[in-house]
Amino acid sequence: MALERTFSILKPDVTRRNLTGAVNARIEAAGLRIVAQKRVHMSRAQAETFYGVHRERPFFGELVEMMTAAPVVVQVLEGDNAIVKYREVMGATNPAKADPGTIRKDFALSMGENSAHGSDAPETAAQEIAQWFAGNEIVG
Ligand code: RTP
Ligand code: MG
Repeated sequence: MALERTFSILKPDVTRRNLTGAVNARIEAAGLRIVAQKRVHMSRAQAETFYGVHRERPFFGELVEMMTAAPVVVQVLEGDNAIVKYREVMGATNPAKADPGTIRKDFALSMGENSAHGSDAPETAAQEIAQWFAGNEIVG
């Protein structure tokens, strides 16, 4: 399997409840390596750019409010099949539908405050990593 990188965000509901380490433990236990990480407080413009694909969706305003309400932790994760693997570790978008043992099942508060973001494809992973990290900040 190919070594791959994906982009992750630990969302405000995680930092607010001091769960960064608990979520990182799930990531590492799944065999994913945190090769870049920083805590940032997103601006409105940064959140709107990041979730630009959802601009026309009814939840967009609420999503931007939520992502800018408190700090987040942005990360690059590396591992075999990292993009799909991290989506599995996160679980379904709606925590009520997420499988037992997933991050969202065990930590998420709601469909909006669902604890983690993970890229959904190689192209979006590359774009998202480039929005948040310079090449020399990623150390594999
Ligand atoms: P993400 O992009 O954050 O990894 O989540 P995802 O792929 O599982 O879900 P997506 O459809 O891309 O939605 C992005 C984020 O928007 C919020 N959301 N709220 N209230 C709602 O109906 C609703 N739907 C989506 C969630 O925070 C979701 O993760
Ligand atoms: Mg998404």
